[in-house]
This record gives sequence, C-alpha cells and structure tokens, in this order.
Amino acid sequence: MVLKEKISIITGAGSGIGRASALLFSKQGATVVVADLNEQMGMETVELISGQNGQAVFQQINVADASDVKRLMDFTHKQYGKIDILFNNAGIEYFTTIEDTTEEEWSRTIDTNLKGVFLGLKYVLPIMRNQRYGSIINMASVAGLAAWPGLGVYSAAKGGVVLLSKAAAAEYGKYGIRVNSLCPGSIRTPLLEEQFFGKMKDPAAAELQLLRHYPLNRLGSPEEVANAAVFLASDSASFVTGQAFGVDGGLSSFVGDLIQ
Ligand SMILES: NC(=O)c1ccc[n+]([C@@H]2O[C@H](COP(=O)([O-])OP(=O)(O)OC[C@H]3O[C@@H](n4cnc5c(N)ncnc54)[C@H](O)[C@@H]3O)[C@@H](O)[C@H]2O)c1
Repeated sequence: MVLKEKISIITGAGSGIGRASALLFSKQGATVVVADLNEQMGMETVELISGQNGQAVFQQINVADASDVKRLMDFTHKQYGKIDILFNNAGIEYFTTIEDTTEEEWSRTIDTNLKGVFLGLKYVLPIMRNQRYGSIINMASVAGLAAWPGLGVYSAAKGGVVLLSKAAAAEYGKYGIRVNSLCPGSIRTPLLEEQFFGKMKDPAAAELQLLRHYPLNRLGSPEEVANAAVFLASDSASFVTGQAFGVDGGLSSFVGDLIQ
C-alpha cells in the first residue's frame, strides 16, 4: 500500500494506461479522481475501483480546456483538502506523415497532448506549492525522445512534455514537488490498436516488424506502465525528479539489428 491515504487525479483514466493506473493506484491505497472526456468509460473505471473496494469519483473534463482543468483541481482540493498526485495521462495520436497532417489534427494533438499537460501543471502547482508536497507524472512517449516516421506531430507534443516536465521539476523542486515524465514504448491499448496498427495495410506483419526493434521482443501492457507510474507517484521515488522515465522494453536504448 505505497499510496495509502494519497489523493490522486488521473486524466484519461477511462481507458488503456490511465484505467490500469487508476486500478493500481487504488489497490495501493490511493483515492482516485478519474478524469476523462468520455463519461461512460470513466464511470466504468469508477465502478471497477468500487468493485475492488477502492475509493474513486468521476469528473468529466477536456484536458485542453482551461476552465475544465481548473474545475477539476478546485473540485478535488475542496472535496479532499489536498492533491498529492497528478498523473497527466490523457492523449491522442494520429499516424500520418507531416505533409498529410491537417491543421486541425496538428491543433488537436498539440492541444490535448501538450497544452493539456501545461494546464494540469498550471492549476495544480499553486495547490501543491502551498501544501509543500506533490508528485506529478506527465505522459510522454519514446516518440518524445527520438523520431518515429509517421508520428511527427505526436513527437513534437511528447518532446514538449519531456522538456516542460524538466522545467517544472527545476522550478518547483524547492517546494517539495517532484515532476517526471513517462516514456512508454508500444503498449497494447485501444490507442495503439486503432490509431497505429489500425492504419497499417497488414497489422500482423507490422507488429512482427515492430517487435524486431524491441530487445524484449514483445509489446508492453498497460499494467507495466501503471507499475512505473505508482513508483514515480510514491515516496519510494522521493529523490527522483526531472526524469524522462522509459518503460519501453529497451526500444530507446537499441539501434536495431543492423546486420541480418
Ligand atoms: N499505447 C501506447 O503505445 C502509448 C505509448 C506511449 C505513450 N502513450 C500515451 O499514453 C497515454 C494514454 O494512452 P492509451 O494508449 O492508454 O490511450 P487510450 O486511447 O486507451 O486512452 C486515452 C484516454 O484519454 C481520454 N482522452 C482523450 N482525449 C481527452 C481529452 N481531451 N480530455 C480528457 N480525456 C481525454 C480518452 O477518452 C481515453 O479514455 C496517451 O497520452 C498516449 O499518448 C501511449
């Protein structure tokens, strides 16, 4: 129970990595504010947490909307008197070349994946600064550390998340606030299935090709990312801040099998 009595907020907790993290945070003793655009999925996560005797509430928000994000922080602070953990996880992806990306796709990706993290920081930091305590985890990606053809705009947003997290860690460390980003590789979630494999002519062949770049030779699970999020959120990581934390089966450390 490394998160016992912690009050946590997880955005995008209606699906994939966010849902797995919400379930694990709860198992580790945290109360979870499940924040998502999708009410039905978010409520399902709350019910799953209730089913394992955990504490959770749902808040419907668009992370790209400043008034929604402020309302989320105000609600949580008023309801529980503190916010210990914020996991800015919500995100979207379009798999397309730079020249085929529409301005609308650019704006939606940057607004959700980068501005959403900025707004989360902007409205939680004053609360955490006053309480002199907090752990913030921002969802980036291996695509925020190195280029991945077809993910240019996504990479631009996720690379921004990595550096914004380092800046926040540098500015707010003196208040006892830790800020890290998470950089997962390919994790089997609806986002990966629909927006990545779903765009491939032959998804099975694409998966085999992808696995050649993973030293562990498999995709990751949402639960494996959730484990890393619990560590970063917990006091076990009390001297860990400003890190871009890889959960990627070795992908970002491997140049590939250059000679076959
Ligand atoms: N799946 C992967 O391979 C992978 C790898 C690296 C990083 N990530 C990142 O992890 C995060 C979660 O991805 P996932 O794979 O679990 O995706 P997912 O699609 O399964 O879940 C994303 C959740 O975010 C919510 N959401 C989307 N836009 C929102 C908005 N504007 N406001 C509030 N909620 C919103 C969705 O409703 C959904 O519940 C994303 O930031 C993604 O970029 C995923």
